[in-house]
Amino acid sequence: MSKKCVLVSGGAGFIGSHVTVELYNAGYDVVIADNMSNCDETCYNGVSQILGVRLPLVKMDFCDRAAVDKLFADYHIDAVIHFAAFKAVGESVSEPAKYYENNLGSFLNVIEASRAQGGCNIVFSSSATVYGETDKLPVTEESPRMPATSPYGNTKQICEDILRDSVKAYAGIKGIALRYFNPIGAHPSALIGELPRGVPNNLVPFITQTAIGKRECLSIFGNDYPTPDGTCQRDYIDIVDLAKAHVCAVARMLDGKMAEGYEIFNVGTGRPVSVLELVNAFEKVNKLKLNYKFAPRRAGDVTAIWADPKKANEVLGWKAERSIEETLAAAWAWEKRIAGK
Ligand code: UD1
Repeated sequence: MSKKCVLVSGGAGFIGSHVTVELYNAGYDVVIADNMSNCDETCYNGVSQILGVRLPLVKMDFCDRAAVDKLFADYHIDAVIHFAAFKAVGESVSEPAKYYENNLGSFLNVIEASRAQGGCNIVFSSSATVYGETDKLPVTEESPRMPATSPYGNTKQICEDILRDSVKAYAGIKGIALRYFNPIGAHPSALIGELPRGVPNNLVPFITQTAIGKRECLSIFGNDYPTPDGTCQRDYIDIVDLAKAHVCAVARMLDGKMAEGYEIFNVGTGRPVSVLELVNAFEKVNKLKLNYKFAPRRAGDVTAIWADPKKANEVLGWKAERSIEETLAAAWAWEKRIAGK
């Protein structure tokens, strides 16, 4: 039987590159497409080194309808995993139109191209941000989506709705939305990982850059939250574990196992970890001291959120396996490698 082909939009980025590795290792052909707007070829080269093959990398913008149509004409695409999107929460607040235009426009083009070829299996890269501030923890897929607190978060909600409605309306389109909690870490080879441009917004890149000396001091945003140690709690999910959830989702679709045309899964560990616990674990496993201080709360942060991953465990057959220590060791190995240390 010929290999099934998966298109990974945004496949040169942090999550896309890890997903590409796992898909290829699971026996899929992969086409990577990326406009390289938020990354260079570091991760693409890393993927090539890990796999020993240079997969097709099409440099194109998913907002360009003609380019998306050409991509679908050039390759026989059995499934798409759509990552191509802007993701800076703060920037989305100051430049909302940029976020709506890019994140919705690119996804609509994927839907239209899928429709034009008579259907496709689409995995959408969603986020736990769709749950907003919730006091009923852990969150299940049935937990209500609260009004988004940023245009970025709103694009995730709207794209989920676009996928749900398209599945209903257009024959041959099937959809899975994966709601990621906090993806962290790097590939154990240290050949691919997160490469934020400028000052990192997310916690783990800020920690590793502080440890390597690129940043002077980590600010822990808030130690007066109603949590056991006063710092926020999140569900940190290892990037390789997260990538494997995509392979399970694609297999479920291509093997005709979906119970409904549109399904949603939480991708998390089910384990809450506070900022302070994460910092302590990073110091312990990597045997170093991190310069940090407590700072005021960051606007827009939720107190605590973690997943109930039961549906993904039981229905998708996926489970987070890597320990937080392994993940934080991998994040540190990656930081050291890119710093040349
Ligand atoms: C953020 C986004 C979320 C997005 C996700 C992608 C917001 C409000 N949410 O989630 O929409 O899907 O990234 O990974 O931006 N922290 C510090 N110091 C720092 C950085 C972070 O203390 O320098 C704390 C934060 O207050 C938070 C935790 O670390 O409690 C995690 O922060 P972060 O990595 O930015 O992720 P989220 O805010 O959970």
